[in-house]
Amino acid sequence: MGNETRDQQILEKLSSYNNQKTHTQSHMTHNQKHKLKSSMLIIFTNLVTIYMFTGPFSFMYKYSSMSPSDSNSILQELNSTKAQLAASHTILSELHQRLNSTNLLVQALLIDLTREQEKQSNHADKNTLTANLVNGDSNTAAATISDELGIALGPHKLPFEYSPKIGSGEIYMPVGEACLRLHEELKQYMTYDIGGECPVDDVLSQGLILKGCEPLPRRRCHSKSLTNYVEPTPLPDSLWMTPPDTSVIWEPYSCKSYQCLVDRKNEPGNSYDCKSCFDLEKEEKIKWIFDDGGLDFGIDQVLATKAAGTIRIGLDIGGGTGTFAARMRERNVTIITSTLNLDGPFNNMIASRGLISMYISISQRFPFFDNTLDIVHSRDVIGNWMPDTMVEFVLYDIYRVLRPGGLFWLDHFFCFASQIKKTYVPMLDRVGFHKLRWHVGMKVDSVVQKNVWYISALLEKPMI
Ligand SMILES: *[C@@H]1O[C@H](CO)[C@@H](O)[C@H](O)[C@H]1NC(C)=O
Ligand SMILES: *[C@@H]1O[C@H](CO)[C@@H](O)[C@H](O)[C@H]1NC(C)=O
Ligand SMILES: *[C@@H]1O[C@H](CO)[C@@H](O)[C@H](O)[C@H]1NC(C)=O
Repeated sequence: MGNETRDQQILEKLSSYNNQKTHTQSHMTHNQKHKLKSSMLIIFTNLVTIYMFTGPFSFMYKYSSMSPSDSNSILQELNSTKAQLAASHTILSELHQRLNSTNLLVQALLIDLTREQEKQSNHADKNTLTANLVNGDSNTAAATISDELGIALGPHKLPFEYSPKIGSGEIYMPVGEACLRLHEELKQYMTYDIGGECPVDDVLSQGLILKGCEPLPRRRCHSKSLTNYVEPTPLPDSLWMTPPDTSVIWEPYSCKSYQCLVDRKNEPGNSYDCKSCFDLEKEEKIKWIFDDGGLDFGIDQVLATKAAGTIRIGLDIGGGTGTFAARMRERNVTIITSTLNLDGPFNNMIASRGLISMYISISQRFPFFDNTLDIVHSRDVIGNWMPDTMVEFVLYDIYRVLRPGGLFWLDHFFCFASQIKKTYVPMLDRVGFHKLRWHVGMKVDSVVQKNVWYISALLEKPMI
């Protein structure tokens, strides 16, 4: 009977499972053993049921083969046999179902086992990593930290083995190349309660990003939660409102409130990034509104260089508190603002305004596909503080993400006068931008360095 072959199959599976089990048993935790035991119990219960149901069948056949003399009783006998047959059909289909579920259980167990084995092999990988990271001082705490890093990075075997889409049987979770050179900081970053609250270590993590550990590894902890969080202000009012202090975890910053950040603009010197950005009433309100025909271009004038409505999406590199994106939003243009949180909750502020912030540094390849964006803008970020090679890579990357006919608004690029003709003009030409507008001017607000110049340019990726 079919049942018997299935039973045979199941038993074969079980015995092969048992063999595997003896191999891995030593590695299993008590909990897993317990789980397996109870699963086995379920299987055996099923098998016993199957046996109990198959038992009466043979009895029934024996009984029906008896031949009584009375024809009436034969009829009765036939009737009852019929009824029994119908009943046995029901039992049979029930048995099929039970077999099915037993099969599923065995499958689930086998998957569990494979995972278990995979864990063991991952352990081996991690040990190499641990060896690299612990760097001699092999106390147990350090080993645990490296374990978590190893888990965060992989490689992890794919549950369904080789994936033609990925082109591999395992998957890596990426981190910046520099991460693995920053042993101490990374070790500290990966020290936390798994499943608990992450340390408030934004200064540490941003420091890692600034040194090239970007992206950072993922962590298995909850970032500190905001207490008394209030629902955001609806658009468009949110664009020009100072957000509530309850939308920020203030520990990482020297200021502990938005009011403190607003007041920063009055402090002397340039020790803070974008120090007047948090005051939405003053300078921020008039940025890009007027076109002075010189270094300051107006948004409307820039948009007017293209057919109405064709500049729809873009990126503002190092966009402070998101005012460029806010002004563009008012013109139905969606701008993503990239910024770090350099001693201020820039990302929180942008998000509270109802705009999209992206927490990436200028060093990272832009996470957009080729030929997709209508506009890229950057003010007072790209400049001669960057090595020339880096500037060139950034410019090529901007060119890459812009669609043909897309605009690159290079807003207040700063450098020395001598560098303009010698370095940056040839570089921009090399990358291949067309110049729609071009202005060079001395930095007027600089008291210390008279020799600092600005370039403001409206550049276009050519249509070919
Ligand atoms: C046999 O079964 C039929 C219905 O299936 C019923 O009408 C009949 O009475 C039964 N005969 C006996 C002898 O039980
Ligand atoms: C058993 O499983 C197969 C496929 O998994 C399904 O086609 C079939 O209908 C199932 N049988 C029962 C009785 O559940
Ligand atoms: C933006 O879009 C809205 C809705 O489509 C429209 O009413 C409004 O006039 C647009 N604003 C501008 C400046 O184009």
